[in-house]
Amino acid sequence: MHFGDYDIKLLYDRFARFPLFLYLDALFGRSTENSIYRKKSIASLKLTPNSTVLDVACGIGFNFKILESYLQNSGKIIGIDISSESLKVAKRRIAKHKWTNIELVNTSITDYESKLRFDAILCTFALEIVSDYKAAIDKIFNLLKPQGKFAMIGMKLSSKIPYKLFNPFFERLYKAGKINVDRDIVAYIKSKFNKIDYYEECFFGFYYILSTSKSYST
Ligand SMILES: C[S@@+](CC[C@H](N)C(=O)[O-])C[C@H]1O[C@@H](n2cnc3c(N)ncnc32)[C@H](O)[C@@H]1O
Repeated sequence: MHFGDYDIKLLYDRFARFPLFLYLDALFGRSTENSIYRKKSIASLKLTPNSTVLDVACGIGFNFKILESYLQNSGKIIGIDISSESLKVAKRRIAKHKWTNIELVNTSITDYESKLRFDAILCTFALEIVSDYKAAIDKIFNLLKPQGKFAMIGMKLSSKIPYKLFNPFFERLYKAGKINVDRDIVAYIKSKFNKIDYYEECFFGFYYILSTSKSYST
């Protein structure tokens, strides 16, 4: 575990009980499980029923329903998260839907080891939180198959008028969630994968979607 991970685990263990507090797009009438941003990022993974997918920092499992719309309870989804309390909520969601192809692993992405290489890796609302984000991106890169696809939703401040007037509010919220939006996540991913697709027009400029493929790196 990286220094600082334990504090993050404790914080997200607490948030597991109040998940909607974390997701502002839910306030705008969009169910977090059906979020258009999740749909868009997951669509870029080009999943088929037999895909193997790693959901990095899966939290309480808000991506599972959309992932399952492609996998249809076959293939394999592995959800990993440092917060054991979040995974308990994710486990209940899995049981409720009777999904049998999802495995949960309680670990930090930087400690995660697997012989599996994935067709697709997803990481939503987390690379700004994971303490060693470069090590996390290196790990994601190594865990992908040669043609494997990666997609993420990131958080940021808005550069758009008039929404940037809300930046101070978001700064407070990000601080409360130990979310560091000053990281150069996009540049680091680009340095590893070479080519990325980047959509900034998400949630008034406070989210972005990035997708890429390991095949671009060769
Ligand atoms: C804002 S939540 C997002 C959860 C989920 N990806 C989603 O979109 O709903 C951030 C998650 O990152 C997890 N996390 C933070 N650092 C981590 C790490 N090093 N390894 C794995 N999970 C981590 C937290 O426990 C938390 O569940």
